[in-house]
Amino acid sequence: MQTQTLSSHAPAAYGNNSIAALAKMGEVWKERAQVKNEEFEVEMMYSDVYDDFLDRLIPFHQHPRYGELGDEMRTKILSSGWIAYNEKTIDIETKIISPICNEIIYGTLPGTHDETIKWLAAQTLTDEAYHVLMVINTARMARTQRGLLDLRLPSFDLVNKIELEAAKYSENWQKKIVRACACIVSEVFISDYLSLLSDADGVQPINRITTDAHRKDELAHSGIFRHLTKEIVRHLTPRELAFFAQMLPRPMRWFASQELSVWETILQQLDYEHTKEVIGDIRAEAEVALFRVDFSELIELAEETGLLDTPEGCDSFQAEGLLEKVTVQ
Ligand SMILES: [Fe+2]
Ligand SMILES: [Fe+2]
Repeated sequence: MQTQTLSSHAPAAYGNNSIAALAKMGEVWKERAQVKNEEFEVEMMYSDVYDDFLDRLIPFHQHPRYGELGDEMRTKILSSGWIAYNEKTIDIETKIISPICNEIIYGTLPGTHDETIKWLAAQTLTDEAYHVLMVINTARMARTQRGLLDLRLPSFDLVNKIELEAAKYSENWQKKIVRACACIVSEVFISDYLSLLSDADGVQPINRITTDAHRKDELAHSGIFRHLTKEIVRHLTPRELAFFAQMLPRPMRWFASQELSVWETILQQLDYEHTKEVIGDIRAEAEVALFRVDFSELIELAEETGLLDTPEGCDSFQAEGLLEKVTVQ
């Protein structure tokens, strides 16, 4: 990662628990990977009788104006919500996860020289490429069926925040840790994000089925990234470790963004007359909905890797609102 790293070029120890667990995960890939299954017949399964998305996933669904919507506008808002959900998924896969998988394949992150780790990163990269294809197929169907082919979304808060954070630091190893932490948090958290829709009744069946297929792969990725994180952390220098511990909880807040700028742009393009009022009211309430996010797995990971035993980790998890402040009597 950088020249002053003492141990980043040391091969990961064979026989350690994480490498053994990763090897087992690699062996079951061909049975569990969704890319090995028959492709979904999206066009055959799509039906415009169903809503494409859930009201409760629209950040302003509790606003009084939402109840006043006519059927046509409500349907377009829901389909736009599905398109945004998918485009955000594409960003997560291509801008957040895949670059880190490539770093691992090249062994340019600490603790990633092991061949088993590279094998798992290549499998993950294959999964993510397939997820992008699934997501593009289903979003394209909704765009075509609902007259939304021209809808254009701006970049997501999540991606903007990662870029802004990475730009704050001058050293390349710091930028890499910012991106690695965003990737780890995504992989630990994305199956929850997907289960918001995969568990929903009454929504477009193909949207639910493909999201559930994606979620199944992501449950495996969550385990993979937990072990990968342990390997990475084990190979950090004290200076890198302190920075990593400080950075790990931050992406949680970026994930919890309600993406109100994206929504404002969508509503403007749909010519919704109360855009300013609705977005203004929600923005005044909360841009970030941390209270809706379950971050218990991230805390578990921080505990397992010893990051919460470091003063930097402990302070940062508290400062981000993920841990209660412990007051010393
Ligand atoms: Fe994925
Ligand atoms: Fe993933």
